[in-house]
Amino acid sequence: MKILSVFGTRPEAIKMAPLVQRLARTPEIESLVCVTGQHRQMLDQVMSLFQIRADFDLAVMQPNQTLNGLFSRTIAGVDDVLAEVRPDVVLAHGDTSTACACAMAAFHRRIAVGHVEAGLRTGNLAMPFPEEMNRRVVDCVSEWMFAPTLTSKANLLHEHLQGRIFVTGNTVIDALAATCDRLRGDAALARQMAQRYPWMDSGRKLILVTGHRRESFGEGFRSICAALAQLAQRGDVQIVYPVHMNPAVRDVVMSTLSRCERIHLIEPLEYLNFVWMMQRAHLILTDSGGVQEEAPYLGKPVLVMREVTERPEAVAAGTVAIVGTSTQRITQAVEHLLDQPELHASFARRINPYGDGEASGRIIAALLGQPFQEFGAAAGDADGARAHASSPSLSSH
Ligand code: UD1
Ligand code: UDP
Repeated sequence: MKILSVFGTRPEAIKMAPLVQRLARTPEIESLVCVTGQHRQMLDQVMSLFQIRADFDLAVMQPNQTLNGLFSRTIAGVDDVLAEVRPDVVLAHGDTSTACACAMAAFHRRIAVGHVEAGLRTGNLAMPFPEEMNRRVVDCVSEWMFAPTLTSKANLLHEHLQGRIFVTGNTVIDALAATCDRLRGDAALARQMAQRYPWMDSGRKLILVTGHRRESFGEGFRSICAALAQLAQRGDVQIVYPVHMNPAVRDVVMSTLSRCERIHLIEPLEYLNFVWMMQRAHLILTDSGGVQEEAPYLGKPVLVMREVTERPEAVAAGTVAIVGTSTQRITQAVEHLLDQPELHASFARRINPYGDGEASGRIIAALLGQPFQEFGAAAGDADGARAHASSPSLSSH
């Protein structure tokens, strides 16, 4: 079976890395990799960490790229690769422009699409924008839908799509577990990490921040930055914020926060370093999909700076809360977690609703028609409800 994996952004690369590594070790499969280069620096960081070599690199990224420009360059570039490789299956990941353009290119050529991380939904095409649309389109044209959880499977069943659904767990946990093992098993590496950030103050609680969603550009980011500036005035915290490379994010964050004491604005971290940083965090403020999945595995409280999430499982379990982008809601929720140790402890529980580190193996077994036990089959899962803003556990305290 000839399989072409296509990805182009940082989160896709992290989540496809363990699968691509395993595909390469599977004798029944000829595995090829095409990167679109939708992200350049942030993608290359991941490729070198996981030692993945691309057979094709479309280098589509442009500074300040538009969605349509990016989409059209990607669909044309992927089409050329499909014509040359003629794979049996194309694997696309998640909800990016890369994923959607790639799935459509394969569909037009009547090549089977496998969607890794299928079935996540907010039910709102504007949030996240344009990702909710991208993910629905990829599912619509997929023959194989690899749903990470029973909740995502339920979403797919609800839409009566044509493809087959397999509940596999999310490959992000495969990547995270391998990275944690690497950090744990290498004392010299752990020392190196600590030396890399001499400005970190072990006497202050670490608030780790990431943010990049398009629906928050402008007012949303100004409001998030105002919350961070306010929180940094507390003497007991330090804020570390690796700033996404999108200029629409960077311009606001840098101009507002670069001179604030106790706020460290840094370049996007290599995955290994980011995992190390998450392990040290007291709490995480983010709008990232991947971080919402990783932090519960590490037992780190997460406040999601969005109005709605397509990842409701950890919200239902009480370790993630949705706080939106308003300055007041963010500062209040953070202060509750900082000042109420019992509340913090109830959020800081290690749970694994998103995966068990075996998702890649399940995906490959499904592709080869081999039997396997689906993720969550034994333990049960969240009830499929979508999580919305104003989580009761925080607002009631
Ligand atoms: C993209 C995805 C989003 C995903 C996010 C992860 C779409 C529509 N959006 O959003 O789903 O959650 O990636 O980070 O697919 N840039 C660089 N170097 C990089 C990466 C980005 O300079 O390595 C800058 C470029 O100016 C680029 C801009 O960021 O034009 C925006 O990148 P783009 O991929 O279009 O959007 P993201 O906001 O990163
Ligand atoms: N990440 C990273 N370095 C950073 C910030 C995040 O390696 O400086 C990782 C993070 O652990 C997660 C992924 O990048 O696996 C999330 O990417 P992003 O937030 O850009 O996208 P999303 O998950 O929202 O699609």
